[in-house]
Amino acid sequence: SEDAVKQMKQAVAKAAADRVQSGMIVGLGTGSTTAFVIQFLGDRLRKGELSHISGVPTSFQASVLAKKYGIPLVTLDDVEKLDIAIDGADEVDPAKNLIKGGGAAHTREKIVDSLADQFLVVVDSSKLVPKLGATFPVPVEVLPFAVAPVTHALKALGGQPELRMGVKKDGPVVTDQGNLVLDVKFEDIPNPAELEKTINNIPGVVENGLFVNVADVILIGEIVDGQPRVR
Ligand code: A5P
Repeated sequence: SEDAVKQMKQAVAKAAADRVQSGMIVGLGTGSTTAFVIQFLGDRLRKGELSHISGVPTSFQASVLAKKYGIPLVTLDDVEKLDIAIDGADEVDPAKNLIKGGGAAHTREKIVDSLADQFLVVVDSSKLVPKLGATFPVPVEVLPFAVAPVTHALKALGGQPELRMGVKKDGPVVTDQGNLVLDVKFEDIPNPAELEKTINNIPGVVENGLFVNVADVILIGEIVDGQPRVR
């Protein structure tokens, strides 16, 4: 149910926020699970459990939430690396590879998450898949100028690209960088590492949502015997 999913997300978000220590530079992910992480980090700061952390937001959403919950922000001009990044995912495979970008934030997420000493992924158990691409298309951020040729190139790779459309907006989704998103369904992804590189080699592609070999730790929220817990 919707309530169970919320409980799993809150449980995993709490466990992640508890891993942050005073003085750390923290990558702040995007999505509904990391929204709880940002809220819990704010709680810990307010209670005095934690001090002197700085956040690097992966999206407009993350920066708005960080300001709301009192987390000081820095940019990548201010810091060379991060101590930890906490981010959600749309799919997680057994090798800790991910599909991200359900919130169209994967470009900045990949930059920030890969600069962290530790990239901690927070998901509920519904995100676990035996193989990437099983349930979720690969989001590809594209320069608006190149949307037609990139669409053709992705079809030539065996994908079925669809321009992501807005939910409460007429017309396409526009990313925080002013670009468009193609959601690309692949029948099978035999080699995620190779597909990640191949897609990014198409001129006009900014970044795709395959995150291969980036995640360090996966925290999973689940419900066992009616109780939320984290593994
Ligand atoms: C944002 O573009 C995605 O990479 C998110 O991290 C992802 O959609 C997870 O969101 P939820 O925590 O809301 O499932």
